[in-house]
Amino acid sequence: MSMLIDRIIKDHEHLTRLLVCLDREISKYKEGATRRPRLSVIIDALDYLHNYPDSFHHPLESRLLAKLRPRITDSELREKLEVIEDQHVEINQLTNNLIDRFQSIQNDQIVPIDALLADYQRYAELQINHLKLENTCMIPAMKALLTEEDVAAVTSALNGNPDPLFGAHLWDSYENLYQFVIGTEKEQIAV
Ligand SMILES: [Fe+2]
Ligand SMILES: [Fe+2]
Repeated sequence: MSMLIDRIIKDHEHLTRLLVCLDREISKYKEGATRRPRLSVIIDALDYLHNYPDSFHHPLESRLLAKLRPRITDSELREKLEVIEDQHVEINQLTNNLIDRFQSIQNDQIVPIDALLADYQRYAELQINHLKLENTCMIPAMKALLTEEDVAAVTSALNGNPDPLFGAHLWDSYENLYQFVIGTEKEQIAV
């Protein structure tokens, strides 16, 4: 039980770190910024968000939520868990949409930047609100209500799906992204 929940909590810590770094990089698109945004790391970050949180972490949570749902009697909690499931769909759609538009910039196509930044802002807020809702509602409910049998069925999926950025083995394709996170965090400490 605890290994699975610990993995979700750890993922949330890593996701928060990446979102903070991505925010700092995207802010360089704003007027008055003194440094140019590094488009390649923005695309790498969104690619990772598509490849791990959207493709594994959220589906893992959804599988656990399916086990949790029949055990919940509190209607307010049940509604919050439905919001979490809706957010998984919306986050996935927005990640893909942002990837398309930042890739268009990379391909020298014209992309209205103000609309893109507004959509990114909505995305960033959604991600943070989603993490808060999961940490305050979903995880305590999972800890309290899931049985060993519930968890056993889902745990087998863990080993074959390591985190390609923050896990034990960093994927070659995320080497630059990892260095970006470490470098951005060092800059933040230095400020
Ligand atoms: Fe999560
Ligand atoms: Fe989630």
